[in-house]
Amino acid sequence: MQFSNKIFPLADLQHSKEQKASLLMLLSQSSDCLVLAYSKSDVDALANPKSKTGLLVELDRLLGGSVASAQALGDLDGKQANACMIRAEKTWATHGVKAKRVLLIGLGEFVKSRGLDIYAKIARAGLKALSGGSIKNALWYVPSFALDVSQDNVEQEVRLTIQYAGDQAYRFGVRQPALKFKAKDAADSFAQLTFAGNEACAKAIKSAIAEGSALVEGMNLAKDLGNLPPNICTPTYLGKTAQGLSKKTDLKVEVLGLKQIEALGMGSFLAVAKGSDTPPQFIVMRHQGGKAGEAPIVLVGKGITFDTGGISLKPGEAMDEMKYDMCGAASVIGTMYAVALMKLKKNVIGVVPTCENMPSGGASRPGDIVKSMSGQTIEILNTDAEGRLILCDALTYVERFKPKAVIDVATLTGACVIALGHVHSGLFSDDQELVDALSKAGQTSLDTVWRLPLDAAYHEQLKSNFADVANIGGRPAGSITAACFLSRFTEKYKWAHLDIAGTAWKSGAAKGATGRPVPLLLNYLLEAR
Ligand code: BES
Ligand code: MN
Ligand code: ZN
Repeated sequence: MQFSNKIFPLADLQHSKEQKASLLMLLSQSSDCLVLAYSKSDVDALANPKSKTGLLVELDRLLGGSVASAQALGDLDGKQANACMIRAEKTWATHGVKAKRVLLIGLGEFVKSRGLDIYAKIARAGLKALSGGSIKNALWYVPSFALDVSQDNVEQEVRLTIQYAGDQAYRFGVRQPALKFKAKDAADSFAQLTFAGNEACAKAIKSAIAEGSALVEGMNLAKDLGNLPPNICTPTYLGKTAQGLSKKTDLKVEVLGLKQIEALGMGSFLAVAKGSDTPPQFIVMRHQGGKAGEAPIVLVGKGITFDTGGISLKPGEAMDEMKYDMCGAASVIGTMYAVALMKLKKNVIGVVPTCENMPSGGASRPGDIVKSMSGQTIEILNTDAEGRLILCDALTYVERFKPKAVIDVATLTGACVIALGHVHSGLFSDDQELVDALSKAGQTSLDTVWRLPLDAAYHEQLKSNFADVANIGGRPAGSITAACFLSRFTEKYKWAHLDIAGTAWKSGAAKGATGRPVPLLLNYLLEAR
């Protein structure tokens, strides 16, 4: 999917004086489809034989009555998110119209400012109408969608449109032919979206395209990594992928192997890795977009490339989905890629501990006690609570960066799916500023989070008779005790934990990675100060 912009200095559909000339300018562009938004009052004007002005009245004149016919058929009802596709007729050419179609999207009743969730609904309807048929490219007229024309809003809305268009266009196995496993995979023919605007929103459109295109690349990478089968997407593969990005961008990537992980004293991480024949990797990706010496924001992603549960073996049903247990890592790698592509002017570091959780003669047992890099000893009461065991050592490792903030991302607990379903990711943090920033980033990307508590009282459940801490806290509040476990390794910096167990992938007929929370992390990083 390609995104671009076209700026027409005077185009303005709000004022009746310029309406006709502006419409003609847009219609005279060669495109498979011109996308315009209209409000309820525009349809009312069209329906009223006495009204001589109005967006749809003017458009109807230029299109030789096609708009009025669509309305007579009931295709143009003025309801919010109504999508009405009008196909070119011979008469269109007499006015120099080169658009092959005009897609009209209903904004509903005119309101001064509409929430981003309503915009999202409208944009989705438009994008859906463009996809899956013979339309290859479209010209999307931004100012008609943006009722509230502040640059900030336009930028957010265009970025969100790109996010959704990229999401809709994603097909596993199409982007990388070498990783195509299904004979029938084919790309959507809709592959080029151009945002048209006027001078007033030119700047917003341009930066939204730069950010949005990078975001889509990052999400696509995160989805690819998530969807790849676990026999291909191994810790080594993740390391190679990260290294590959350092060749395409300015990212500096370092991948530590078994020996180096041992030398660092990551006894907890190694306790998980040792059950598998495939070696663990510890990936560090750096983006130096800010001043040298400026404290970095650090992202840490759980990279279990397959979670069998280990000796505390999981039941067989839907176990294939545990290939997605590296989606935290995938979202960190995808976000780092996007950050590098958009040349973000901040220092960001991505860290990924990655290994498999397998049962074997060399695997950890329930009851084993291991020493983490922090020095704290851990009693492993359940080998299926492995995510926290690899993350705790990574969280200790990142102290060396003297970070401004650390955010870890993990498909950590089934309990989080029970608590929040597939709507919000779980957010855990005692830092109100970080909570506010992440919540806001969730709202502006519609990749939302919901805060859960981290009170001291929950730590009681992690007491062990034999070690400093146990790796499980029993069934009650399973997501919270998991986060509490992690919090014991994050005392030296500001920290937030995202549990993405319910949001990173979809099950059932539409099984696949969602690319979440790349949009959330990117919006957070864009706004972070
Ligand atoms: N990767 C799983 C969490 C998970 C399970 C995510 C199902 C999404 C769907 C994690 O490693 C795990 O197994 N957690 C256990 C923890 C328990 C043993 C305390 C869980 O949630 O059951
Ligand atoms: Mn597990
Ligand atoms: Zn797991």
